[in-house]
Amino acid sequence: MTDTRSAAWDTYSQSKPQRRQTNAKGETTWFNWTQYADHGPGHEVLALKSGDTVLDLGCGSGGNLAHLATLGTKAVGVDLSPAQLAKARERWPDADGTELHQGDAVAYLAETFTLFDAVFSVFGAAWFTDPALLLPLVRTSLKPGGVFALSQRPPVEGCYGCQASYIPRGAEKDPAVVKRWDYEPEVWCSLLEAHGFAESTATVLPAPSHDRRTMGTLLVRAVRGDDPRA
Ligand SMILES: C[S@@+](CC[C@H](N)C(=O)[O-])C[C@H]1O[C@@H](n2cnc3c(N)ncnc32)[C@H](O)[C@@H]1O
Repeated sequence: MTDTRSAAWDTYSQSKPQRRQTNAKGETTWFNWTQYADHGPGHEVLALKSGDTVLDLGCGSGGNLAHLATLGTKAVGVDLSPAQLAKARERWPDADGTELHQGDAVAYLAETFTLFDAVFSVFGAAWFTDPALLLPLVRTSLKPGGVFALSQRPPVEGCYGCQASYIPRGAEKDPAVVKRWDYEPEVWCSLLEAHGFAESTATVLPAPSHDRRTMGTLLVRAVRGDDPRA
């Protein structure tokens, strides 16, 4: 049976260009947490060292993973969309140290025996999965002290919990609909603490001042706590 979500994300994939060859600094790989080019923090949020293993939930066309591989990490990505993963393989054919899996993030986390040094998601599966399902699995897939971080658009005021996202499919078809989960920053911190994470922070990074768009980026970060009961 075709997963309607993966078909929706394949459609999304067709509408997005590949990542640029270089960024504003002339770098060929880089980490971007936000919807704006050359903006916001980089890979330091994940506190990785060479030799660490890191997981990207909803890695898309793989730009952030390719960058992490250049730091000497084993960079694992999971994505529902075969089209997104095909773009990743085409754009980063020589990205040694990366490993890509097609499938649902929850299913992957439930099956993997790997313990990761960090798990992250940039406008990815963590936005499109109920945190009540995702957070327990992320926690048990992280080493104690390992970082979990995600970014996504901030919620629209008053629109919290499960929301509908519409993916255009052209003039002749209805849009595809996928579910996403939106919460205020302080609610994210409460959810993380309730699921055994510590040191949680959630902030809205402002849009760059030179851009006509004004929407910021919600960046959430926590570490796996060591409470064995959580
Ligand atoms: C908006 S794109 C972001 C892609 C990438 N993280 C980036 O920064 O360009 C969302 C991605 O999440 C993937 N995705 C959505 N829900 C997912 C799930 N439940 N499991 C795995 N991947 C998922 C989609 O296929 C898509 O590639």
